[in-house]
Amino acid sequence: MTRVRTPTPVAAWTRRDLLALRGLEPAEIRAILRRAKELDLMGPRGDELRGRTVATLFFEDSTRTRLSFTLAARRLGAEVIDLGAGASSVNKGESIVDTARVIHSMGVDAVVVRAKPAGAAALVAESLPCSVVNAGDGRHEHPTQGLLDAYALARATGRDADFDLSGLTVLIVGDVVSSRVARSNIAGLRALGARVVCVGPPALAPVSLSALGCEVSHDFDALLPQADAVMMLRVQFERHEGGAVGSSREFRSACALTRDRAARLKPAAWIMHPGPINKGLELDADLADSPRSLVLQQVRAGVPVRMACLDLCLHAASSA
Ligand code: CP
Repeated sequence: MTRVRTPTPVAAWTRRDLLALRGLEPAEIRAILRRAKELDLMGPRGDELRGRTVATLFFEDSTRTRLSFTLAARRLGAEVIDLGAGASSVNKGESIVDTARVIHSMGVDAVVVRAKPAGAAALVAESLPCSVVNAGDGRHEHPTQGLLDAYALARATGRDADFDLSGLTVLIVGDVVSSRVARSNIAGLRALGARVVCVGPPALAPVSLSALGCEVSHDFDALLPQADAVMMLRVQFERHEGGAVGSSREFRSACALTRDRAARLKPAAWIMHPGPINKGLELDADLADSPRSLVLQQVRAGVPVRMACLDLCLHAASSA
């Protein structure tokens, strides 16, 4: 059943687009998370975007992000059109920006873009007069993933009254250098007050990452007792040439979350992973499926968080 829900005015959010978490004010991030919680508690269907059309343009594979944006838009009453790279004229040489302009000209109010080049969503946003949401661009950012991770962690740790994560230590572990999820999480979690340490061997967690505002460590074992959450990352073999990852054995010895390492975490520490998981490589399978795992709560959080992003960006665009 569709219910009419009154939109809550969110003074802190005035942006038409969501392209990255780096550069956002803590108040802006909290505005999205508060709206997500409101929508989460209000129930599954509403009318906030009735009469609007959202286009999802995914030029890279996705399960979670693509489907949860579709659900999010539909749960706000919007119509959704979906373009996958496999069936698009990008394969005939049309550029991503030209494709987005073609789709916008059909009468679209928001475009959700995932693409391989870093900066692709920003280029689309410069070219279109409607809202653009970045669903992952190369190694740059995946802002809605960073938001849903913060949302899931805040709810699990009882910090969702004010989304203040001060005092929490979050380790982001493994193939950090390849990870847009890590970049969005560093920006988002730091803005909310958490201590963030990126962990891995130097080729995967270079000291230069500290320019993003996090700490960097190559000693996972030393940090285990300090962590309130350990966010494991997928090893992105497709983004590595040469021997940065090393053998599976070397990788697991340096920075996999194994049963043995999990036993040295605080009893209340949470295990996180944005997915998809290489089970048995960066994370032991039984840990991923254990009661200390937030993996499915992270996926679940994707729907209200993406509802909030679409709602706030589209209402800001129409108020501008
Ligand atoms: N975490 C994430 O972005 O997953 P998908 O690639 O399945 O969307």
